[in-house]
Amino acid sequence: MTVRAAVFVSGSGTNLEALLKRQEAGDLQAQIVTVISDNPDAFGLQRAASHGIPAHYVPARGRPKAEYETEVLHILQEAGVEMIILAGYMRFVGPTLLNAWPGAILNIHPAYLPEFPGAHGIRDAWEAGVKETGVTVHYVDEGVDTGPVILQERVPVPETGGLEAMEAAVHAKEYDLFWRAVNKAVSHQHK
Ligand code: GAR
Repeated sequence: MTVRAAVFVSGSGTNLEALLKRQEAGDLQAQIVTVISDNPDAFGLQRAASHGIPAHYVPARGRPKAEYETEVLHILQEAGVEMIILAGYMRFVGPTLLNAWPGAILNIHPAYLPEFPGAHGIRDAWEAGVKETGVTVHYVDEGVDTGPVILQERVPVPETGGLEAMEAAVHAKEYDLFWRAVNKAVSHQHK
């Protein structure tokens, strides 16, 4: 059982890379068929292309969200996408996409939600001086990092190495958790 998925990225795309490696190893129950970015310089676009996955930059700035998302929607419909995976996509998803893929949009967040929502989950946890943080994969709804949790796991904050070590620990947990959460969502979608 596989579902056709689109991955949205705004930046480096290391989580996309980790998912593509799982896909190539036969571990992923989704098939990533297209990659979308709102950022022309997102390295994730190049990662997609080097794995032979069609990658699309769709400009979002300076135009209404509904117009931007309608352009994205057409690309996804053309590709027969059934699931959207947000992997470092730094924009709110609007009603155009939420209504077209109800209960089928996933996001990864670098903290243990509802702790530290927003754009700086790792830094905010660091500044709060917590002993442990975490990673969450959740369904996307109209709120900010509020949808139902699919999987989340704790990450102890390393005792040495500062913020950099904490970032590395969180990212390592992301690469380990994301593909398992995608598989869980796929199984759920097909119950
Ligand atoms: C990841 O840590 C992801 O959890 C985070 O952006 C990073 C993207 O890294 N997402 C958010 O903060 C969403 N609120 P990547 O481009 O290397 O995968």
